[in-house]
Amino acid sequence: MRGGVRNIVVYYHFYTFSFFLVLTLFRPAFSIHVNTLSPTDSLTISSNRTIVSPGDIFELGFFKPSSGTSRLYLGLWYKKTSERTYVWVANRDSPLSSSIGTLKISDSNLVLLDHSNNTVWSTNLTKRDVSSPVVAELLANGNFVMRYSNNNNDTSGVLWQSFDYPTDTLLPEMKLGLDFKTGYNRFLRSWRSPDDPASGDYSYKLETQGVPEFFLWSKDVPVYRTGPWNGIRFGGIPDRRQFNDMVDNVTMNNEEITYTFLMNKTNHDTYSRLRLSPSGHFQQDTWTPQLTNWSMIWALPRDECDLYKVCGPYSYCDYTKKPLCVCIPGFMPKDPRTWELNDWSNGCVRKTELSCRGDMFLGLTRMKLPDTRTAIVDRSIGEEEECRERCKMDCNCTAFANADLRQGGSGCLMWTGELMDIRNDAEEGQNLYVRVAAADLGLLKKNKLWLIITGLELVMCLFKTQTNVWFI
Ligand SMILES: *[C@@H]1O[C@H](CO)[C@@H](O)[C@H](O)[C@H]1NC(C)=O
Ligand SMILES: *[C@@H]1O[C@H](CO)[C@@H](O)[C@H](O)[C@H]1NC(C)=O
Ligand SMILES: *[C@@H]1O[C@H](CO)[C@@H](O)[C@H](O)[C@H]1NC(C)=O
Ligand SMILES: *[C@@H]1O[C@H](CO)[C@@H](O)[C@H](O)[C@H]1NC(C)=O
Ligand SMILES: *[C@@H]1O[C@H](CO)[C@@H](O)[C@H](O)[C@H]1NC(C)=O
Ligand SMILES: *[C@@H]1O[C@H](CO)[C@@H](O)[C@H](O)[C@H]1NC(C)=O
Ligand SMILES: *[C@@H]1O[C@H](CO)[C@@H](O)[C@H](O)[C@H]1NC(C)=O
Ligand SMILES: *[C@@H]1O[C@H](CO)[C@@H](O)[C@H](O)[C@H]1NC(C)=O
Repeated sequence: MRGGVRNIVVYYHFYTFSFFLVLTLFRPAFSIHVNTLSPTDSLTISSNRTIVSPGDIFELGFFKPSSGTSRLYLGLWYKKTSERTYVWVANRDSPLSSSIGTLKISDSNLVLLDHSNNTVWSTNLTKRDVSSPVVAELLANGNFVMRYSNNNNDTSGVLWQSFDYPTDTLLPEMKLGLDFKTGYNRFLRSWRSPDDPASGDYSYKLETQGVPEFFLWSKDVPVYRTGPWNGIRFGGIPDRRQFNDMVDNVTMNNEEITYTFLMNKTNHDTYSRLRLSPSGHFQQDTWTPQLTNWSMIWALPRDECDLYKVCGPYSYCDYTKKPLCVCIPGFMPKDPRTWELNDWSNGCVRKTELSCRGDMFLGLTRMKLPDTRTAIVDRSIGEEEECRERCKMDCNCTAFANADLRQGGSGCLMWTGELMDIRNDAEEGQNLYVRVAAADLGLLKKNKLWLIITGLELVMCLFKTQTNVWFI
């Protein structure tokens, strides 16, 4: 009996040992450091292996965008969403055409090889860039990076990162805009169609001349403009802070002019992304586990007034009006005939030419500010009064506005040419002061404007409409 018990114990130990042996032998297949790819590793289509980010949010691997295609891509998607949603594609314009393909590290580069071992995609680092062994790693935020294998925590060890090569999606912490070190302006480009990741016609790019503002392009034609960054948000984008926890951030220094957004995390299971859709809409999509679906929070352009230059120079778009376009007070349609036919592209012209010293400024409230690509900004100016003086002294200055709305407003934004692409915007708009000839005040008076004369120069009048107008 006693021998029997001992035998049972022995057998028990043997089984336990075998069990651990089996676990140890097979462990590499299941749970090796799943978020890295070392130089001896590879990812092949046939193995179905993927790389998963810490936290199980993102997954990197090969995919077919639809069942009806033989084209294969290397990409990144959300691991847990029920709808497969791609956030990055490495080889969008050079798909693999057969089901043989390999991602590996070769000569200190990440390369994607096709069935005959030709390189279809590469990180393109030169030997000079790389001085010691490298490893590829998928980080928790969805950034797929290549870094030196010996410094895990040093971001300066990053040699290449997918965040620098966006596809159509901006994730939290990812940046769009200009990096002065590389000279590269990161931007989004749409997929060609919902099941074709190839480069589409639409792009969304930060304009860094003057004041940062985004343009949405269709090929090389601008279709939408966000309005300038005002320290809190881009002027023409609906304020989303009331709907969700998204925090916008623009960094302007001598290394970069970039935009990024962060989620003020309350719910870790909720994902938000900004995306440029194949139909040319820039939108925020959010996924919540309860809904098991993506929902679109907002999309731009919103309406006809958002379309770039739907109203020509010196006119503004008012969605509540018919016709849609309105000349700024003191201006009249340049071509009344086409204006009557609802072609507002020629815009408006001054009723009276400017005389410089005698000119006045007309204040328009709640406006999406004009195109700032040719505007001048002086951030050292604090007071609006000082900005007005600066604009008044420069006879070429056609309008001015606050550059930064934080803490009651600061900075001076001045336009010297035609004022383009203005709309009224009851929620997000800000004050815009337009230079007009003093003589046009009389004309405006006839239009039932109430003038309150408060000195020789300062004239203020209030317009009884949705858009308030006054003079200073
Ligand atoms: C990979 O997935 C395909 C389709 O799901 C399947 O036919 C194949 O057997 C899988 N290969 C491996 C090695 O698991
Ligand atoms: C591609 O390279 C791998 C590894 O070097 C090799 O085993 C394979 O035979 C090559 N395939 C072709 C088609 O050359
Ligand atoms: C690498 O260089 C090739 C050829 O110049 C180019 O087509 C490709 O887009 C580059 N890849 C990356 C990731 O920049
Ligand atoms: C890297 O940083 C994390 C957190 O900052 C720390 O927990 C970890 O120990 C560091 N790893 C190494 C290898 O230094
Ligand atoms: C915005 O970015 C700057 C520098 O990148 C940082 O110092 C600041 O805390 C960020 N602001 C917010 C609200 O995240
Ligand atoms: C993040 O959310 C908290 C709580 O809702 C709020 O107090 C805080 O101001 C938010 N932070 C930002 C940068 O919006
Ligand atoms: C998910 O969203 C799509 C598109 O918005 C919609 O057509 C579909 O009905 C939604 N599915 C569920 C389960 O809500
Ligand atoms: C105003 O514009 C004219 C013509 O564009 C230019 O010649 C002149 O120098 C400008 N004046 C100032 C003060 O910028």
